[in-house]
Amino acid sequence: MNEISSVLTPVRHGLVMAVLALILGALWAAYMATHHEQLHGAFEAQQEKAQQINMQHMMEGMNMDGMHAADQHSGHSHGSAQTDHHAGGNEVHSHSGNLAMDAMQRLLRGHIHFMGIGLLSIVLLLLVLSTGLKTCWKNVFGWTFGLGALLYPPAWILMGFRTVELGPQAAEASVLWLFGPAVGLLVGSLLALLVVILLEWSGLKRLRLFAWAFS
Ligand code: HEM
Repeated sequence: MNEISSVLTPVRHGLVMAVLALILGALWAAYMATHHEQLHGAFEAQQEKAQQINMQHMMEGMNMDGMHAADQHSGHSHGSAQTDHHAGGNEVHSHSGNLAMDAMQRLLRGHIHFMGIGLLSIVLLLLVLSTGLKTCWKNVFGWTFGLGALLYPPAWILMGFRTVELGPQAAEASVLWLFGPAVGLLVGSLLALLVVILLEWSGLKRLRLFAWAFS
């Protein structure tokens, strides 16, 4: 048991974060399952409110058009039936037509990615351990995979909660500060691991150019 523990030491912090991601994913799924109606109902109420405001804007636009009919021959028009305005005044281009469903789907993706990336990180960190990399580099992989597994899924959850209020595109843009670094950590780690495996497989790791990274 002690031997296993010492073998895992270089990536132990990453494994802890990945297991934590699995635990959070399971808890999040349990929360969604037990509060499904509550969440969906709240999103629908939010959507209804936004639609009412949208209708109000359109009616106001039509009234303005009526009042300024004389202006129309000059080419000016007020409001557009094709542009959907949201509660916050943002334009919304929803293809599914049901923002509450979009929001629920994004919340669910938080669970899927907690579980998927948690598991993926554990497997890939074991692969990192099996390479001949120096301990300090294995340590770095532990941080990048571990933090990626913990940071990426909450971005979906945050985006889900903002989807109805802001609209799908604006909600996505509002979490880019979290999405960007998290995807960078995960994709960067995957690419780096691929390079390490290729260097070992081809024997190029013995070249002086790469040898500094291997023990
Ligand atoms: C670097 C890691 C990953 C990134 C950047 C990523 C990104 C994404 C994105 C952007 C979507 C949405 C696609 C769309 O809007 O149609 C998505 C969906 C999905 N991902 Fe991932 N993903 C990753 C890892 C994984 C892993 C490891 C799993 C394994 C379980 C997974 C399972 C899924 C599933 C099942 C969907 C579809 C969910 C749905 O239909 O609602 N992903 N992923």
